[in-house]
Amino acid sequence: MHPLRVSDDTYLLSVNVENILFEGLWEMPNGVALNSYIIKGEKTAIIDGVCGWDGVPEQLYQLLGELDINPQSIEYLIINHMEPDHSGWIEDFKRIKSDFKVICSKKSAELLEHFYGHTENVVSVGDNDTLDLGNGHILQFYEIPNVHWPDTMVTFDTLTGTLFTCDAFGSFGTAEQSSFDDMLTEEQLTFFEKEAVRYYANIVAAFSGPVKKAIEKCALLPIKIVAPGHGIIWRENPTRIIQDYSDYASYQKGPAREEITVIWGSMYGMTEKAVNHVVQVLEDESIRFHIHRLPETSWGTVLASIWISTGVILAVPTYEYKMFPPAAAVLEEIGKKKVQNRKAFLMGSFGWSGGAEKELNEIISRNRMNWTLLEPVVFRGNAQEDDFKKIEEQTRELVKQVREEVNQLKA
Ligand code: FEO
Repeated sequence: MHPLRVSDDTYLLSVNVENILFEGLWEMPNGVALNSYIIKGEKTAIIDGVCGWDGVPEQLYQLLGELDINPQSIEYLIINHMEPDHSGWIEDFKRIKSDFKVICSKKSAELLEHFYGHTENVVSVGDNDTLDLGNGHILQFYEIPNVHWPDTMVTFDTLTGTLFTCDAFGSFGTAEQSSFDDMLTEEQLTFFEKEAVRYYANIVAAFSGPVKKAIEKCALLPIKIVAPGHGIIWRENPTRIIQDYSDYASYQKGPAREEITVIWGSMYGMTEKAVNHVVQVLEDESIRFHIHRLPETSWGTVLASIWISTGVILAVPTYEYKMFPPAAAVLEEIGKKKVQNRKAFLMGSFGWSGGAEKELNEIISRNRMNWTLLEPVVFRGNAQEDDFKKIEEQTRELVKQVREEVNQLKA
């Protein structure tokens, strides 16, 4: 990956990170790009940054070298968001240069001190504050708290209309030399939108209220380019990713899309037979659905599916008087992300007692998820003909309710 010109005097320096769990937790099958940006006015600023893991800061310096920029010439580090995936390289940079200024929000300044003990030459900025880099590049700052940490802000270059947004409008997926929407096919753009859903559902979802407020605030700016800290740069159609994020934020309270997510697990194949029946019914209904087996499927994948789905089918056995444990764990996480107002149906096998339903109700109630649950279908051992009939009826009822809910919103 080489530096890419974004706009006048503005360059993307992107470092890809793969084969790690993001935040030590989230699987990234397609990796992630850490995007930083250089603006070369009369003074040089770097916006956002990279993590401090072995070899990553060095890759950033190499990219600077390709632009003939000596790191010593960087006067400003603009930190839109202090999470270490963007700021971790500072400790390394301090060994090269000591007299740079940090421009960040007041909350970022506090975090900088606690994470890195860095307090020198830190300038706190807030809404409408500006920084003049010369050659027409006047930067404006706007706070968008809790997208994703409380410290977050965006930086807007009034000359080029570029909005540097850090986590906002970002996605997973590694960067390539064609990291701009105007260089990608519709198929490639769709890929990055799917990666954006995964990123949003895993990282930003819990903060959907602040995302909505941030979008309202940014809408007042004459944006020509959206340049996030992860993912691709939206230069031809910046409103596309902004609208995507508006949609993702709305999915939290539902309805989401006319889609169903099936989460299932099976110990000895009894519940699996019932799942196979559900799949046939969903195919017959011609509704889009996603199906994930637990515990084989990662939380992040399940969460991304449920985030965009209005309906959920939980096909899991009872295990020691409770729900199949991996399903309970992922549901708790879904609850913490505040995935609300879904239509759901529980089914599954039990041996000597039920218990899955009780735990499902507890999780939904404790996390205030307000899910509408259809009458469950649970069966002792193998499902019998009558159970299969009920499973089909409830699956078709769920499809009906999902369609009604989504169409009500469209009307
Ligand atoms: Fe990409 Fe919240 O850091």
